[in-house]
Amino acid sequence: MFLTWSPGRVNIIGEHTDYNDGFVLPMAINYATWVALQPRQDNRVIITALDKNEKLEIDLDNFSKGEGGWQEYVTGVAWALQEAGHTLAGWEGVFSGDVPIGAGLSSSAALELALARAFALVSDLKWDPTQMALICQKAENRWVGINSGIMDQMISACGKKKFALLIDCRSLKTKQVPLPKKTQFVILDTATRRGLLDSAYNERRSQCEAVACHFDVKALRDVTLDQLQEIAGILDMVLYRRAQHVISENQRVLDAVKALNQGNAAALGLLMNESHASMRDDYEISRKEVDQMVAIAQAQPGCYGARMTGGGFGGCAVALVAEDQVENFKDRVMQEYHAKTGLNPKIYVSSATDGTSYEILGKTG
Ligand code: GLA
Repeated sequence: MFLTWSPGRVNIIGEHTDYNDGFVLPMAINYATWVALQPRQDNRVIITALDKNEKLEIDLDNFSKGEGGWQEYVTGVAWALQEAGHTLAGWEGVFSGDVPIGAGLSSSAALELALARAFALVSDLKWDPTQMALICQKAENRWVGINSGIMDQMISACGKKKFALLIDCRSLKTKQVPLPKKTQFVILDTATRRGLLDSAYNERRSQCEAVACHFDVKALRDVTLDQLQEIAGILDMVLYRRAQHVISENQRVLDAVKALNQGNAAALGLLMNESHASMRDDYEISRKEVDQMVAIAQAQPGCYGARMTGGGFGGCAVALVAEDQVENFKDRVMQEYHAKTGLNPKIYVSSATDGTSYEILGKTG
């Protein structure tokens, strides 16, 4: 019997920078997806989604795309592993998890990596977290059909307990960054979701590509704010603002790393606030309720800063809060947000955890 699991994530800063070859600073959180499984002698995978009581059975030598849902992640991960040249063995298992779905906390990456770990164990594959993150991203891009960047899979696979991870999304090099002492990251789920997230996401991606193309560079990572300003009158204003977000956000990530290395929670908080304003005004991926949530959070005693986190258009905000104020912060945010919007938010106090892991009969690895 094996148990595999992989965490969701909260992105502290660096939004929509990953697909621009830029920098991100997420941490893996103490909410995860688990798969319990045992090997089979044949080439079949039989898996049950415990929360939905739905079952999928596939033949690893002959399977095709289905009609969406969690099943596509199972077949997608199997497909991408096979595409990478791996020979897979069959297994039978169940999965469940507590990463809120559709909230911008990467429940899909958590599922993909937990599944990849399961396949790797029964098939005796070498586990290289970065390579596995790339394989899972391919499953999501090419099989599930969502054009996401590499951040979510990388942090789910490579997360480190007690640290945030600076990821250079061009080289895929990572660096552990210490979290500020006596503070906590509090995740604020606004209880709003947006259905058309994919099309808005893809639109932002092509806008970024258009600006990179204008400069004849590979990605916006290669453009500076000065260069952008030089073409202010020429470039379409919407494209200009999109690029301004990405370029300034990359710098904020690097500044955030400096702040964290100095243990400066106040400086990090200010950068988070600036990041939110940039997402709201330049990248236009926020929405009224998220802005309200962020403003409420920022106004609380003990809050260093707050911003929307994840893909956008709803979902979660993240706030950096002094440890001894967290309980008070939660109560007040809950009440004030409900009074303003009529919605009931969910609040998760998160701590940084390790990435994809497994256990065999009581042993951890
Ligand atoms: C989603 C994508 C990520 C990243 C974020 C925005 O979570 O899956 O790759 O682009 O949006 O930062």
